[in-house]
Amino acid sequence: MIARWVTAYLGFGSNLGNRLEMIRRACDLLERREGLRALRLSALRETRPQGTEEGPALGGPYLNAVAEVSTALEPLALLQLCLEVEAALGRVRAAPNGPRKIDLDLLLYGEAVIELPAREGRPALTVPHPRLLERAFVLEPLAELAPDRIHPLTGRTIRQHWRAFQGKEPGTRSGSVPMKEIHDAREAAGWADRVRSAGLSLGLVPTMGALHPGHHSLIGRARGECDRVAVSIFVNPAQFGPGEDLSRYPRTPAQDLQGCREQGVDLVFWGEAGGEGGVYPEGFQTGVEVEKLSRPLCGEFRPGHFRGVATVVSILFGLFKPHRAYFGQKDFQQARLLQRLARDLATGVRVVIGPTVREADGLAMSSRNRYLSPEERERARAIPRALFEAEEACRLGEDRPSVLEQMVLDRLRREPGLVVQYARALEAATLEPVPGDRISSARDGVVLAVAALAGKTRLIDNVWLR
Ligand code: PAJ
Repeated sequence: MIARWVTAYLGFGSNLGNRLEMIRRACDLLERREGLRALRLSALRETRPQGTEEGPALGGPYLNAVAEVSTALEPLALLQLCLEVEAALGRVRAAPNGPRKIDLDLLLYGEAVIELPAREGRPALTVPHPRLLERAFVLEPLAELAPDRIHPLTGRTIRQHWRAFQGKEPGTRSGSVPMKEIHDAREAAGWADRVRSAGLSLGLVPTMGALHPGHHSLIGRARGECDRVAVSIFVNPAQFGPGEDLSRYPRTPAQDLQGCREQGVDLVFWGEAGGEGGVYPEGFQTGVEVEKLSRPLCGEFRPGHFRGVATVVSILFGLFKPHRAYFGQKDFQQARLLQRLARDLATGVRVVIGPTVREADGLAMSSRNRYLSPEERERARAIPRALFEAEEACRLGEDRPSVLEQMVLDRLRREPGLVVQYARALEAATLEPVPGDRISSARDGVVLAVAALAGKTRLIDNVWLR
Protein backbone atom coordinates (compact mmCIF):
# COMPACT_ATOMS: atom_id res chain seq x y z
CA MET A 1 0.00 0.00 0.00
CA ILE A 2 1.31 3.47 -0.81
CA ALA A 3 1.13 5.70 2.23
CA ARG A 4 -0.71 8.98 1.89
CA TRP A 5 1.38 11.95 3.03
CA VAL A 6 -0.51 14.56 4.98
CA THR A 7 0.57 17.99 6.22
CA ALA A 8 0.16 18.27 9.97
CA TYR A 9 1.04 20.91 12.55
CA LEU A 10 2.52 20.27 15.97
CA GLY A 11 2.75 22.76 18.84
CA PHE A 12 5.83 22.80 21.10
CA GLY A 13 6.10 24.40 24.53
CA SER A 14 8.85 24.16 27.11
CA ASN A 15 9.34 25.95 30.41
CA LEU A 16 11.79 23.78 32.30
CA GLY A 17 15.41 22.86 31.71
CA ASN A 18 17.19 24.18 28.65
CA ARG A 19 14.10 25.23 26.71
CA LEU A 20 15.91 25.88 23.45
CA GLU A 21 17.67 22.52 23.62
CA MET A 22 14.36 20.77 24.43
CA ILE A 23 12.70 22.09 21.29
CA ARG A 24 15.73 21.31 19.18
CA ARG A 25 15.91 17.75 20.52
CA ALA A 26 12.20 17.22 20.02
CA CYS A 27 12.63 18.20 16.35
CA ASP A 28 15.60 15.84 15.99
CA LEU A 29 13.66 12.94 17.49
CA LEU A 30 10.65 13.61 15.27
CA GLU A 31 12.73 13.89 12.14
CA ARG A 32 14.49 10.62 12.80
CA ARG A 33 11.19 8.80 12.61
CA GLU A 34 10.16 7.05 9.43
CA GLY A 35 6.88 8.37 8.09
CA LEU A 36 7.66 11.95 9.01
CA ARG A 37 9.61 14.50 7.00
CA ALA A 38 10.00 18.10 5.87
CA LEU A 39 9.95 19.71 9.23
CA ARG A 40 9.60 23.48 9.13
CA LEU A 41 9.74 25.35 12.41
CA SER A 42 8.19 28.76 13.12
CA ALA A 43 9.98 31.53 14.99
CA LEU A 44 10.45 30.83 18.70
CA ARG A 45 8.39 33.00 21.00
CA GLU A 46 8.30 33.43 24.71
CA THR A 47 4.78 33.31 26.04
CA ARG A 48 3.67 36.60 27.43
CA PRO A 49 2.96 36.89 31.10
CA GLN A 50 -0.59 36.51 32.26
CA GLY A 51 -1.70 39.56 34.15
CA THR A 52 1.67 41.41 34.24
CA GLU A 53 2.01 44.77 32.56
CA GLU A 54 5.70 44.88 31.81
CA GLY A 55 8.20 42.23 30.80
CA PRO A 56 7.99 38.45 30.53
CA ALA A 57 6.29 36.26 33.13
CA LEU A 58 7.61 36.00 36.62
CA GLY A 59 9.30 32.63 36.74
CA GLY A 60 9.18 29.98 34.05
CA PRO A 61 8.01 31.64 30.85
CA TYR A 62 7.41 29.17 28.05
CA LEU A 63 9.33 28.99 24.84
CA ASN A 64 6.84 28.11 22.11
CA ALA A 65 6.91 27.19 18.44
CA VAL A 66 4.86 25.37 15.83
CA ALA A 67 6.27 22.78 13.41
CA GLU A 68 4.87 21.88 10.02
CA VAL A 69 5.46 18.24 9.17
CA SER A 70 4.62 16.02 6.29
CA THR A 71 3.62 12.62 7.60
CA ALA A 72 2.52 9.19 6.47
CA LEU A 73 1.59 8.29 10.05
CA GLU A 74 -2.07 7.96 10.97
CA PRO A 75 -3.26 10.61 13.46
CA LEU A 76 -3.14 8.26 16.44
CA ALA A 77 0.35 7.08 15.51
CA LEU A 78 1.44 10.71 15.24
CA LEU A 79 -0.04 11.46 18.66
CA GLN A 80 1.72 8.41 20.05
CA LEU A 81 4.98 9.65 18.57
CA CYS A 82 4.48 13.02 20.26
CA LEU A 83 3.97 11.27 23.60
CA GLU A 84 7.09 9.18 23.03
CA VAL A 85 9.14 12.28 22.30
CA GLU A 86 7.79 13.95 25.44
CA ALA A 87 8.70 10.86 27.48
CA ALA A 88 12.15 10.60 25.90
CA LEU A 89 12.83 14.21 26.87
CA GLY A 90 11.80 13.61 30.44
CA ARG A 91 8.32 15.04 30.70
CA VAL A 92 6.38 13.65 33.60
CA ARG A 93 2.69 14.21 33.06
CA ALA A 94 1.57 15.32 36.49
CA ALA A 95 -0.69 18.33 37.01
CA PRO A 96 -2.45 19.26 33.74
CA ASN A 97 -1.04 22.78 33.75
CA GLY A 98 2.09 22.09 35.75
CA PRO A 99 5.58 22.96 34.52
CA ARG A 100 6.91 20.78 31.75
CA LYS A 101 10.18 20.20 29.99
CA ILE A 102 8.46 19.75 26.68
CA ASP A 103 4.89 19.59 25.60
CA LEU A 104 3.87 18.48 22.11
CA ASP A 105 0.34 18.99 20.81
CA LEU A 106 -1.16 17.75 17.58
CA LEU A 107 -2.85 20.89 16.28
CA LEU A 108 -3.99 20.07 12.74
CA TYR A 109 -3.86 16.92 10.64
CA GLY A 110 -4.67 17.74 7.03
CA GLU A 111 -8.34 18.69 6.93
CA ALA A 112 -9.26 15.95 9.37
CA VAL A 113 -11.80 16.40 12.14
CA ILE A 114 -11.24 13.71 14.75
CA GLU A 115 -12.86 13.08 18.12
CA LEU A 116 -11.65 9.88 19.79
CA PRO A 117 -12.29 9.29 23.50
CA ALA A 118 -9.52 7.76 25.61
CA ARG A 119 -9.48 3.96 25.65
CA GLU A 120 -7.29 1.63 27.57
CA GLY A 121 -3.71 2.14 26.46
CA ARG A 122 -4.71 4.99 24.18
CA PRO A 123 -5.08 8.68 24.93
CA ALA A 124 -8.01 10.79 23.77
CA LEU A 125 -7.49 12.67 20.53
CA THR A 126 -9.29 15.77 19.32
CA VAL A 127 -8.21 17.38 16.03
CA PRO A 128 -8.15 20.30 15.35
CA HIS A 129 -6.75 20.89 18.81
CA PRO A 130 -9.69 22.17 20.87
CA ARG A 131 -7.85 25.20 22.26
CA LEU A 132 -6.08 26.09 19.02
CA LEU A 133 -8.11 29.25 18.47
CA GLU A 134 -7.84 30.48 22.06
CA ARG A 135 -4.08 30.60 22.36
CA ALA A 136 -1.88 33.34 20.93
CA PHE A 137 1.22 31.21 21.40
CA VAL A 138 -0.23 28.65 18.95
CA LEU A 139 -2.17 30.88 16.57
CA GLU A 140 0.62 33.40 15.94
CA PRO A 141 3.28 30.83 14.88
CA LEU A 142 0.67 28.84 12.97
CA ALA A 143 -0.34 32.00 11.10
CA GLU A 144 3.33 32.53 10.26
CA LEU A 145 3.69 29.02 8.74
CA ALA A 146 0.25 28.45 7.25
CA PRO A 147 -1.76 31.67 6.99
CA ASP A 148 -3.99 30.39 4.21
CA ARG A 149 -4.80 26.99 5.68
CA ILE A 150 -8.47 26.55 6.41
CA HIS A 151 -9.56 25.54 9.89
CA PRO A 152 -11.68 22.46 9.11
CA LEU A 153 -14.39 23.32 11.63
CA THR A 154 -14.84 27.02 11.02
CA GLY A 155 -14.04 27.21 7.30
CA ARG A 156 -11.99 30.36 7.98
CA THR A 157 -8.27 30.74 7.34
CA ILE A 158 -5.72 30.70 10.15
CA ARG A 159 -4.84 34.29 9.21
CA GLN A 160 -8.42 35.36 9.72
CA HIS A 161 -8.52 33.66 13.09
CA TRP A 162 -5.25 35.26 14.18
CA ARG A 163 -6.44 38.70 13.10
CA ALA A 164 -9.75 38.21 14.84
CA PHE A 165 -7.90 37.08 17.96
CA GLN A 166 -5.96 40.35 17.93
CA GLY A 167 -9.14 42.31 17.38
CA LYS A 168 -8.06 43.57 13.97
CA GLU A 169 -10.38 41.78 11.63
CA PRO A 170 -11.83 44.55 9.43
CA GLY A 171 -14.82 46.04 11.14
CA THR A 172 -14.08 44.68 14.60
CA ARG A 173 -12.53 47.92 15.82
CA SER A 174 -14.86 50.83 16.13
CA GLY A 175 -14.22 53.49 13.53
CA SER A 176 -11.14 51.81 12.06
CA VAL A 177 -9.92 53.29 8.78
CA PRO A 178 -7.27 52.15 6.26
CA MET A 179 -3.64 52.55 7.25
CA LYS A 180 -2.22 56.02 6.83
CA GLU A 181 1.32 56.98 5.88
CA ILE A 182 2.84 60.30 6.94
CA HIS A 183 6.31 61.69 6.22
CA ASP A 184 6.03 65.07 7.93
CA ALA A 185 6.67 65.10 11.69
CA ARG A 186 4.22 68.00 12.26
CA GLU A 187 1.48 66.13 10.46
CA ALA A 188 2.20 63.01 12.51
CA ALA A 189 1.85 65.07 15.69
CA GLY A 190 -1.48 66.42 14.42
CA TRP A 191 -2.75 62.92 13.72
CA ALA A 192 -1.76 61.80 17.24
CA ASP A 193 -3.47 64.86 18.76
CA ARG A 194 -6.69 63.97 16.99
CA VAL A 195 -6.52 60.36 18.22
CA ARG A 196 -6.06 61.50 21.81
CA SER A 197 -8.73 64.18 21.64
CA ALA A 198 -11.18 61.58 20.40
CA GLY A 199 -10.58 59.84 23.73
CA LEU A 200 -8.74 56.92 22.11
CA SER A 201 -5.63 55.31 23.55
CA LEU A 202 -2.50 55.47 21.41
CA GLY A 203 0.35 52.96 21.22
CA LEU A 204 3.69 53.78 19.56
CA VAL A 205 6.19 51.23 18.24
CA PRO A 206 9.45 53.03 17.30
CA THR A 207 11.58 51.13 14.77
CA MET A 208 14.29 51.58 12.18
CA GLY A 209 12.45 49.45 9.63
CA ALA A 210 13.51 46.16 7.97
CA LEU A 211 10.69 44.78 10.05
CA HIS A 212 10.65 41.11 11.11
CA PRO A 213 8.50 39.02 13.46
CA GLY A 214 10.22 40.60 16.48
CA HIS A 215 8.85 44.01 15.46
CA HIS A 216 5.52 42.43 14.52
CA SER A 217 5.14 40.92 17.96
CA LEU A 218 5.50 44.39 19.53
CA ILE A 219 2.94 45.76 17.08
CA GLY A 220 0.61 42.86 17.88
CA ARG A 221 0.93 43.59 21.59
CA ALA A 222 0.21 47.27 20.99
CA ARG A 223 -2.76 46.32 18.82
CA GLY A 224 -4.18 44.26 21.66
CA GLU A 225 -3.74 47.02 24.26
CA CYS A 226 -4.42 50.30 22.45
CA ASP A 227 -7.21 51.74 20.29
CA ARG A 228 -4.77 53.11 17.71
CA VAL A 229 -1.24 52.01 16.83
CA ALA A 230 1.47 54.10 15.19
CA VAL A 231 4.74 52.63 13.94
CA SER A 232 7.63 54.97 13.28
CA ILE A 233 10.27 53.94 10.76
CA PHE A 234 13.36 56.09 10.95
CA VAL A 235 16.99 55.04 10.61
CA ASN A 236 18.29 57.50 13.15
CA PRO A 237 21.75 58.76 12.14
CA ALA A 238 22.44 60.08 15.65
CA GLN A 239 22.66 56.61 17.18
CA PHE A 240 25.27 55.29 14.74
CA GLY A 241 28.94 55.86 15.50
CA PRO A 242 31.59 56.64 12.89
CA GLY A 243 32.42 53.41 11.06
CA GLU A 244 29.11 51.79 12.04
CA ASP A 245 26.60 50.50 9.51
CA LEU A 246 24.40 53.59 8.95
CA SER A 247 24.84 53.73 5.17
CA ARG A 248 24.27 50.03 4.63
CA TYR A 249 21.53 49.60 7.25
CA PRO A 250 18.86 47.45 5.53
CA ARG A 251 15.86 49.25 4.08
CA THR A 252 12.80 47.25 2.95
CA PRO A 253 9.98 49.81 2.71
CA ALA A 254 7.54 47.77 0.60
CA GLN A 255 7.73 44.75 2.91
CA ASP A 256 7.54 46.96 5.98
CA LEU A 257 4.32 48.51 4.73
CA GLN A 258 2.80 45.16 3.94
CA GLY A 259 3.74 43.83 7.38
CA CYS A 260 2.25 46.90 9.08
CA ARG A 261 -0.94 46.57 7.07
CA GLU A 262 -1.26 42.91 8.03
CA GLN A 263 -0.64 43.74 11.67
CA GLY A 264 -3.48 46.27 11.65
CA VAL A 265 -1.31 49.37 12.12
CA ASP A 266 -3.18 52.71 11.85
CA LEU A 267 -0.29 55.01 11.03
CA VAL A 268 3.20 54.50 9.60
CA PHE A 269 5.38 57.52 10.19
CA TRP A 270 8.36 57.63 7.81
CA GLY A 271 10.84 59.87 9.60
CA GLU A 272 13.25 62.02 7.68
CA ALA A 273 16.26 63.49 9.44
CA GLY A 274 16.23 67.15 8.44
CA GLY A 275 14.38 69.66 6.34
CA GLU A 276 10.81 70.91 6.72
CA GLY A 277 8.87 68.44 8.80
CA GLY A 278 12.00 66.43 9.65
CA VAL A 279 12.47 64.61 12.94
CA TYR A 280 15.28 67.01 13.89
CA PRO A 281 14.04 70.56 13.31
CA GLU A 282 16.31 73.22 11.82
CA GLY A 283 18.97 74.29 14.32
CA PHE A 284 18.52 71.25 16.52
CA GLN A 285 21.03 71.09 19.38
CA THR A 286 19.54 69.14 22.28
CA GLY A 287 20.78 65.80 23.58
CA VAL A 288 19.20 63.51 26.13
CA GLU A 289 21.46 61.44 28.34
CA VAL A 290 20.26 58.73 30.70
CA GLU A 291 23.35 58.76 32.81
CA LYS A 292 24.01 55.55 34.68
CA LEU A 293 21.98 53.10 32.65
CA SER A 294 23.78 54.06 29.45
CA ARG A 295 27.27 53.40 30.79
CA PRO A 296 27.83 49.62 31.00
CA LEU A 297 27.44 46.91 28.33
CA CYS A 298 26.82 48.46 24.88
CA GLY A 299 27.57 51.89 26.34
CA GLU A 300 31.24 50.91 26.64
CA PHE A 301 31.49 49.78 23.03
CA ARG A 302 29.23 52.28 21.29
CA PRO A 303 30.00 55.72 22.70
CA GLY A 304 27.17 58.16 21.99
CA HIS A 305 24.79 55.41 20.87
CA PHE A 306 22.35 55.65 23.76
CA ARG A 307 22.42 59.43 23.69
CA GLY A 308 21.27 59.14 20.07
CA VAL A 309 18.54 56.65 21.02
CA ALA A 310 17.34 58.61 24.06
CA THR A 311 17.22 61.83 22.06
CA VAL A 312 15.25 60.46 19.13
CA VAL A 313 12.83 58.58 21.37
CA SER A 314 12.26 61.77 23.41
CA ILE A 315 11.39 63.55 20.16
CA LEU A 316 9.02 60.73 19.16
CA PHE A 317 7.38 60.83 22.60
CA GLY A 318 7.01 64.58 22.19
CA LEU A 319 5.45 64.27 18.75
CA PHE A 320 3.07 61.41 19.48
CA LYS A 321 2.54 61.70 23.25
CA PRO A 322 1.51 58.02 23.17
CA HIS A 323 -0.12 56.38 26.16
CA ARG A 324 2.14 53.39 25.70
CA ALA A 325 5.34 52.71 23.79
CA TYR A 326 6.67 49.26 22.99
CA PHE A 327 10.28 48.06 23.03
CA GLY A 328 11.89 44.63 22.79
CA GLN A 329 13.75 42.77 25.50
CA LYS A 330 16.25 41.86 22.77
CA ASP A 331 17.70 45.35 23.36
CA PHE A 332 17.35 45.13 27.12
CA GLN A 333 19.60 48.05 28.02
CA GLN A 334 17.79 50.29 25.54
CA ALA A 335 14.38 49.30 26.90
CA ARG A 336 15.42 49.80 30.53
CA LEU A 337 16.99 53.14 29.81
CA LEU A 338 13.89 54.33 27.96
CA GLN A 339 11.70 53.22 30.85
CA ARG A 340 13.84 55.44 33.11
CA LEU A 341 13.71 58.31 30.61
CA ALA A 342 9.91 58.11 30.37
CA ARG A 343 9.63 58.47 34.15
CA ASP A 344 12.41 61.02 34.68
CA LEU A 345 11.07 63.40 32.06
CA ALA A 346 7.45 63.02 33.19
CA THR A 347 6.40 62.01 29.70
CA GLY A 348 3.39 60.08 30.95
CA VAL A 349 4.32 57.31 28.51
CA ARG A 350 4.15 53.76 29.81
CA VAL A 351 7.11 51.85 28.38
CA VAL A 352 6.23 48.20 27.80
CA ILE A 353 8.90 45.54 27.20
CA GLY A 354 7.98 42.62 24.89
CA PRO A 355 9.82 39.28 24.87
CA THR A 356 12.54 38.42 22.34
CA VAL A 357 11.39 36.60 19.21
CA ARG A 358 13.92 34.07 17.90
CA GLU A 359 14.75 32.23 14.71
CA ALA A 360 13.97 28.50 14.79
CA ASP A 361 17.53 27.73 15.95
CA GLY A 362 17.38 30.25 18.76
CA LEU A 363 19.21 33.22 17.23
CA ALA A 364 17.46 36.43 18.30
CA MET A 365 15.80 38.02 15.28
CA SER A 366 17.50 41.19 14.14
CA SER A 367 17.51 43.35 11.05
CA ARG A 368 21.28 42.83 11.06
CA ASN A 369 21.13 39.03 10.80
CA ARG A 370 20.90 39.38 7.04
CA TYR A 371 24.52 40.60 6.97
CA LEU A 372 25.75 37.21 8.20
CA SER A 373 27.45 34.83 5.77
CA PRO A 374 26.27 31.20 6.05
CA GLU A 375 29.35 30.35 8.19
CA GLU A 376 28.86 33.35 10.44
CA ARG A 377 25.18 32.51 10.75
CA GLU A 378 26.12 29.00 11.87
CA ARG A 379 28.53 30.35 14.49
CA ALA A 380 26.03 32.87 15.76
CA ARG A 381 23.88 30.02 17.08
CA ALA A 382 26.39 29.61 19.89
CA ILE A 383 25.11 32.86 21.45
CA PRO A 384 21.56 31.75 22.33
CA ARG A 385 22.86 28.28 23.18
CA ALA A 386 25.31 29.67 25.69
CA LEU A 387 22.62 31.89 27.22
CA PHE A 388 20.07 29.09 27.45
CA GLU A 389 22.64 26.77 29.04
CA ALA A 390 23.31 29.38 31.68
CA GLU A 391 19.58 29.88 32.15
CA GLU A 392 19.21 26.17 32.80
CA ALA A 393 22.12 26.16 35.27
CA CYS A 394 20.31 28.98 37.08
CA ARG A 395 17.09 26.97 37.19
CA LEU A 396 19.05 24.05 38.59
CA GLY A 397 20.14 26.24 41.48
CA GLU A 398 23.25 28.19 40.44
CA ASP A 399 22.68 31.52 42.14
CA ARG A 400 26.01 33.26 41.44
CA PRO A 401 25.93 35.66 38.50
CA SER A 402 29.73 35.54 38.24
CA VAL A 403 29.60 31.78 37.61
CA LEU A 404 26.88 32.10 34.95
CA GLU A 405 28.82 34.91 33.31
CA GLN A 406 31.92 32.72 33.17
CA MET A 407 29.94 29.79 31.74
CA VAL A 408 28.75 31.95 28.87
CA LEU A 409 32.22 33.36 28.25
CA ASP A 410 33.82 29.91 28.23
CA ARG A 411 31.19 28.58 25.86
CA LEU A 412 31.52 31.49 23.45
CA ARG A 413 35.29 31.53 23.49
CA ARG A 414 35.24 27.93 22.28
CA GLU A 415 33.41 29.08 19.16
CA PRO A 416 35.94 30.05 16.50
CA GLY A 417 35.07 33.17 14.60
CA LEU A 418 33.07 34.83 17.38
CA VAL A 419 34.70 37.78 19.08
CA VAL A 420 33.05 38.40 22.41
CA GLN A 421 32.75 42.02 23.46
CA TYR A 422 31.06 41.27 26.75
CA ALA A 423 29.13 38.64 28.65
CA ARG A 424 27.83 40.22 31.84
CA ALA A 425 25.26 39.35 34.47
CA LEU A 426 23.92 42.57 35.98
CA GLU A 427 21.03 43.55 38.18
CA ALA A 428 18.13 44.03 35.76
CA ALA A 429 16.76 47.10 37.57
CA THR A 430 19.99 49.12 37.66
CA LEU A 431 22.41 47.37 35.26
CA GLU A 432 24.91 47.42 38.12
CA PRO A 433 26.80 44.47 39.61
CA VAL A 434 24.53 42.14 41.55
CA PRO A 435 24.71 42.75 45.33
CA GLY A 436 26.63 39.93 47.04
CA ASP A 437 26.90 38.03 43.73
CA ARG A 438 23.50 36.42 44.39
CA ILE A 439 20.66 36.42 41.89
CA SER A 440 18.22 36.04 44.76
CA SER A 441 19.23 39.44 46.11
CA ALA A 442 18.88 41.31 42.80
CA ARG A 443 16.05 43.77 42.25
CA ASP A 444 13.84 42.55 39.39
CA GLY A 445 16.21 39.66 38.68
CA VAL A 446 19.38 39.57 36.65
CA VAL A 447 19.99 40.16 32.98
CA LEU A 448 22.68 38.00 31.45
CA ALA A 449 23.69 39.92 28.33
CA VAL A 450 26.10 39.21 25.49
CA ALA A 451 27.57 41.21 22.62
CA ALA A 452 29.75 39.46 20.07
CA LEU A 453 31.05 40.05 16.58
CA ALA A 454 30.50 37.44 13.90
CA GLY A 455 32.74 38.81 11.17
CA LYS A 456 31.82 42.48 10.98
CA THR A 457 28.30 42.00 12.32
CA ARG A 458 27.67 42.90 15.92
CA LEU A 459 25.10 40.68 17.61
CA ILE A 460 23.51 41.18 21.02
CA ASP A 461 21.26 38.93 23.05
CA ASN A 462 20.25 38.33 26.66
CA VAL A 463 18.18 36.25 29.02
CA TRP A 464 16.39 37.66 32.04
CA LEU A 465 16.83 35.47 35.11
CA ARG A 466 14.45 35.93 37.99
P1 PAJ B 1 15.05 48.52 15.79
O1 PAJ B 1 16.34 47.81 15.88
O2 PAJ B 1 14.34 48.60 14.48
O3 PAJ B 1 14.07 47.85 16.82
C1 PAJ B 1 12.79 48.36 17.06
C2 PAJ B 1 12.22 47.65 18.27
O4 PAJ B 1 12.07 46.25 17.98
C3 PAJ B 1 13.13 47.75 19.49
O5 PAJ B 1 12.37 48.01 20.63
C4 PAJ B 1 13.77 46.38 19.54
O6 PAJ B 1 14.17 46.00 20.84
C5 PAJ B 1 12.65 45.50 19.03
N1 PAJ B 1 13.16 44.22 18.55
C6 PAJ B 1 14.18 44.02 17.67
N2 PAJ B 1 14.41 42.70 17.52
C7 PAJ B 1 13.53 42.04 18.30
C8 PAJ B 1 13.25 40.66 18.57
N3 PAJ B 1 13.96 39.69 18.02
N4 PAJ B 1 12.26 40.36 19.44
C9 PAJ B 1 11.52 41.36 20.01
N5 PAJ B 1 11.73 42.67 19.79
C10 PAJ B 1 12.72 43.01 18.95
O7 PAJ B 1 15.81 49.61 18.44
C11 PAJ B 1 15.71 50.39 17.53
O8 PAJ B 1 15.22 50.03 16.29
C12 PAJ B 1 16.07 51.88 17.65
O9 PAJ B 1 17.10 51.99 18.57
C13 PAJ B 1 14.87 52.78 18.08
C14 PAJ B 1 14.33 52.39 19.45
C15 PAJ B 1 13.77 52.72 17.02
C16 PAJ B 1 15.35 54.24 18.17
O10 PAJ B 1 15.87 54.68 16.96
